[in-house]
Amino acid sequence: MKILAIESSCDEFSLAIIDNGIILTNVISSQINHHKEFGGVVPELAARLHLENMHWVIEQAIEESQINIEEIDYVVYTAKPGLIGSLIVGKVVAETIALYLNKPIIGLDHIEGHIFGAAIEHEFIYPVLAMVVSGGHTQIEVVHSPSEFEIIGATNDDAIGECYDKVARVLGLDYPGGPVIDKLAQQGNPEAYKLPIPKDDLSYDFSYSGLKTAAVNLVHNLQQKNQPIDLKDFAASFQIAAVSAVSHKLERAIQNYNPQTLTVAGGVSANSQIRKIILELGQKYQISNTFVPKSEYCTDNAAMMAKLAYEKLK
Ligand code: KG4
Ligand code: ZN
Repeated sequence: MKILAIESSCDEFSLAIIDNGIILTNVISSQINHHKEFGGVVPELAARLHLENMHWVIEQAIEESQINIEEIDYVVYTAKPGLIGSLIVGKVVAETIALYLNKPIIGLDHIEGHIFGAAIEHEFIYPVLAMVVSGGHTQIEVVHSPSEFEIIGATNDDAIGECYDKVARVLGLDYPGGPVIDKLAQQGNPEAYKLPIPKDDLSYDFSYSGLKTAAVNLVHNLQQKNQPIDLKDFAASFQIAAVSAVSHKLERAIQNYNPQTLTVAGGVSANSQIRKIILELGQKYQISNTFVPKSEYCTDNAAMMAKLAYEKLK
């Protein structure tokens, strides 16, 4: 079974082809450099750049896969959630290819795709406990099968990636701020600045607006007093607060749901501290099927959508 997948929900346009579970190609066009000067993704620009990039992405992916496009059995695309203009471009491209090939088309969920990004190189044993951490989502899901996703906790306000990006912005760091803070944090002292651990309670829900406000206020206070900010120490102090909530909540979910597989998904799963926490929790609770996705499958990509589709269809 060969599936062609398109992912275009935000500022990446990507096309992947999977052949019986094996990824033949995963071409991603990133627009980060275009959005950097605005300090975040500009939706209208993202949709227009998708239109410019889709031609070479399609050509390169088909060439790399070394298959004849007529061999495709299904066409799938990200239907939701995402930026509406970006989603529509991907949908229209998918519909055009499906119509041309006269093959069935399926719209998929982006978050479910992120979770299956972790299953490309390892097989899931169900139930799977997945920590979803991205620019738009922070949630814990129990996956019972490729078609049964149970969200047991989610953010009440900001997502963790959004919080990283906003704090990075007030510190004057480049967009996207998550990877920059992560890099600085690895050389800093996490006890240098005092920041609150977000929503440190017994629920599985998250809240990152308090940490964001506390971090932004602290930066402004220090700036007003003309006190220098040690970026490495600030990043380390922020990171420890941001990931503590993930660690506490995930540990309780493991105790209550007894998963066979433990994993993490979404753009923030590239974070060094979060990857460490997942592997440590897996070891502590003897979940042998514990793994973190390869970095290519952390940020938005079509391979994860292709893998989700394959697992649903097979
Ligand atoms: O999943 P993704 O590519 O897009 C969404 O669907 O939201 O996630 C992008 C987010 C951005 O907020 C970015 O700053 C964050 O992932 N990110 C990181 C790291 N790498 C990417 N956050 C913290 N540490 C990282 N190493
Ligand atoms: Zn995403």
